[in-house]
Amino acid sequence: DLYAVRDAAGQGLVSFDPGMFNTAVCHSSVAYIDGDAGILDYRGYPIDELAEHCTYLEVAYLLVYGELPTPPQLSAWEAEITIHRFIPENVKKLIDAFPYDAHPMSKLMSAVSSFHTFYPESRESDEQHRPELQIRRLIAKMPTLAAFSYRHSEGLPFVYPVDDVPYVENFLRMLFKMGEREYRPDPRLVRAMDVLFMLHADHEQNCSTTTVRTVASSGNGPYTSVSAGIGALFGPLHGGANEAVLRMLREIGTKDRVPEFIAGVKAGGARLMGFGHRVYKNYDPRARIIKNTAHDVFEVTGVNPLLEIALELERIALEDEYFVKRRLYPNVDFYSGLIYEAMGFSPQMFTVLFAIPRTAGWLAQWREQVTDSEQKIVRPKQIYTGHPRRAVVPLDQRG
Ligand code: ACO
Repeated sequence: DLYAVRDAAGQGLVSFDPGMFNTAVCHSSVAYIDGDAGILDYRGYPIDELAEHCTYLEVAYLLVYGELPTPPQLSAWEAEITIHRFIPENVKKLIDAFPYDAHPMSKLMSAVSSFHTFYPESRESDEQHRPELQIRRLIAKMPTLAAFSYRHSEGLPFVYPVDDVPYVENFLRMLFKMGEREYRPDPRLVRAMDVLFMLHADHEQNCSTTTVRTVASSGNGPYTSVSAGIGALFGPLHGGANEAVLRMLREIGTKDRVPEFIAGVKAGGARLMGFGHRVYKNYDPRARIIKNTAHDVFEVTGVNPLLEIALELERIALEDEYFVKRRLYPNVDFYSGLIYEAMGFSPQMFTVLFAIPRTAGWLAQWREQVTDSEQKIVRPKQIYTGHPRRAVVPLDQRG
């Protein structure tokens, strides 16, 4: 869909590329995708190796600083993140002031954008605005904001972070504590969430990352840029597909109705949600890892009854000529919703669970954007389709 047109002002050829499918807007060393081969690497490391050997905080460090941390670097990083987990009491009041039925993503976005008012140094000039501090604050506070937003929606009191509990476990404890009883999540659930966080941490120039870069290009710091990224992710075409997968599986209802549903998809009735990807024309490497993670989670929570339908859908689709010819494979969203639901999350939280880890990727890309001397303020061209130039008719002469 890329073609060149002569612009109206006669300034030469302009490429018309809605959605920028064929336009590279930056050089980046953060993530690499080979959609045909089904490859995703962060800073040169295969995603499956990272998911096997690392924690989310190691991967966040890798994305932000370019190298995996050494043990002392990791200890220092974890300590820094721990220090910054609390949110200002007034941000807590801000979350409390929203209607209970407001979407947790809206609360998250508003809270992050409010940081600009609570941390005045972020308003200072480049040398003084201490981006390192803002980066740490955001990675540290995102789970706290997410947990507070969730508990507010559920009408539950806020649970504060504690110092001696690791990042992901702390998040789950803040979310699911009931009454006086501490919530101690099964280590397999903690590990599963850690893996899901790693898989969602970056995905090169997707819609929200491009938004972060665009907002950064006019000179904004991390708080404003990341809050804009959360807004982009909130859109159902970007962050909301796993919720749609669950709706679809419920609609199908039973395994024996899968062939009928697939026939309807092929006849153009609906899309098979969680299948297909703009970039991956092979099995999404994240989906493969998530599928294994799902089995680990279901060992603890019991099997989500929708899994049977999902597996049958995948089995039939992967053998069906329609899907094979179009290179449609399960994507990251196909199994993630099943896991989140089994762990006790309401569907509204699914996109929030995407935003928390993606913050590391957004920040890595924010830094690249603002330190890259080739970058300029984003200002695309348009092809004007409006009225030719004309004279204004005074009000009393119109009509
Ligand atoms: N089910 C059935 N058919 C499909 C699907 C699907 N999920 N996806 C694509 N197709 C078909 C299209 O109908 C089209 O067929 P045609 O050539 O006969 O017209 C062909 O495959 C190509 O489709 P496009 O829309 O051109 O593919 P594109 O790369 O633009 O779409 C997208 C990618 C939006 C992800 C698409 O596959 C889709 O809608 N999938 C379902 C939604 C989903 O799972 N989204 C999550 C993506 S992952 C993420 O964002 C984190």
